[in-house]
Amino acid sequence: MADTHTRRDAQTLLEAWTAGESLRKHAMAVAACTEAYGRLEALRLGLSGDQINQFAELYASAGLLHDMDYERHPSPAEHPFVGVQYLREHGWPEAILHAILAHADYSGVEPESHLDRALFASDELAGFLTACALVKPTRSIADVEVAGVKKKMKDKAFARAVKREDIVRGADLLGLPLEEHLGICLAAMQARAAELGLSGS
Ligand SMILES: [Fe+2]
Repeated sequence: MADTHTRRDAQTLLEAWTAGESLRKHAMAVAACTEAYGRLEALRLGLSGDQINQFAELYASAGLLHDMDYERHPSPAEHPFVGVQYLREHGWPEAILHAILAHADYSGVEPESHLDRALFASDELAGFLTACALVKPTRSIADVEVAGVKKKMKDKAFARAVKREDIVRGADLLGLPLEEHLGICLAAMQARAAELGLSGS
């Protein structure tokens, strides 16, 4: 494979390593969120035009690739280290590798850069927002609202596996009020509802 590192390349790699539809969709949902944060950060940095798109692509690629090895190598001894090694050998930017390592809280790598923090913050939340959409009668993420998400976060029986404290910590890492973090990720996933399978039945 030619060693280019576009969003499309990341999508191709994700599909090559991951056969399962739900893990693919998870990666794509996280990518929608990280991409939104990449765009916001690019604007904050005063970038313009194509620079913004390239910046956002870097963020999206980290989202697409962060669990790419999980299906084949789910143990904490291997995930995400096997994937990161592959990506390093194929010349993917160090910023992406660092973010992927930092999203696993047992890796010994802490979230430092804005991309690291955006990936950590998007990971659990993307799953939670998906769960919020799938319990709507329409199964459409267009019908999910921030107030409803906040309410569901307090309902311990709902989407039990999603760690609320990671969602809260993610907002903290980004320096955002929880509501704003929820709103940014919700809007990002709504904009890509069709490819995420969340545009309703
Ligand atoms: Fe993930």
